[in-house]
Amino acid sequence: MDIRIFKNEQEIGVAAGQLFCEFVKEKPECVLGLATGATPVPTYNYMAAQYAEGNVSFKDITTFNLDEYCDLPKEHKNSYYSFMFENLFSKIDVNPENVNFLDGNTTDPEAESARYAEAIASKGGIDVQLLGIGRNGHIAFNEPADAFTGESFKIALTQSTIDANSIYFDDIPMPRYAMTMGIGSIMKAKKIVLIATGSSKAEAVKGMIKGEVTPQLPASILQQHDDVVIFLDEAAAALL
Ligand code: F6R
Repeated sequence: MDIRIFKNEQEIGVAAGQLFCEFVKEKPECVLGLATGATPVPTYNYMAAQYAEGNVSFKDITTFNLDEYCDLPKEHKNSYYSFMFENLFSKIDVNPENVNFLDGNTTDPEAESARYAEAIASKGGIDVQLLGIGRNGHIAFNEPADAFTGESFKIALTQSTIDANSIYFDDIPMPRYAMTMGIGSIMKAKKIVLIATGSSKAEAVKGMIKGEVTPQLPASILQQHDDVVIFLDEAAAALL
């Protein structure tokens, strides 16, 4: 694991944003795996700023997002689809036809999982996968469990995740289920970039890097991937 520690989330936004921009400049038709949540926002801001300044174009990239809430219209302001357009896609020149999401409203999660796996494979796999980490060590919505997951699937969110994310839902109750890429699909990415900021992530970060590899702390599986870059701020790195 290549662990890089920065003072704060703004510095990480620049460093991780540079990594993505450089990658896109080298391989304009690359496939990026993207995450939502508060953590990647400074990175997305940096990428959008670089585009606005004419330093990089994203017109040929393809993206696959990690997860999407179930039982929430795609157009709802809290869907991850809306999040990505608000925070990144509307600010860069990505072709909207090349952005991909799991369908949280599918009536057949297994068929949806197969569709997503095929779509990723047809693009040659994910070149760089961006991840955040939950307070309980989840990546995407792979919650602590008795076994590591495989391809995408529908999951019941844990109370820890509901507590963390329900602050964003001011009009309707937060969904209790999500469609998420599984650990197996995430581990297929050629390169993984994980960002963790803030003291609430320190315990999970310690387990991910120094603990045993266990599905009870899903991010610990990243110890077994051979190209992982971890960006931490000082608060998230405090227990290392
Ligand atoms: C979101 C995702 C989640 C978040 C995690 C951290 O697509 O996959 O695993 O990365 O819940 O969320 P934030 O960044 O809001 O602390």
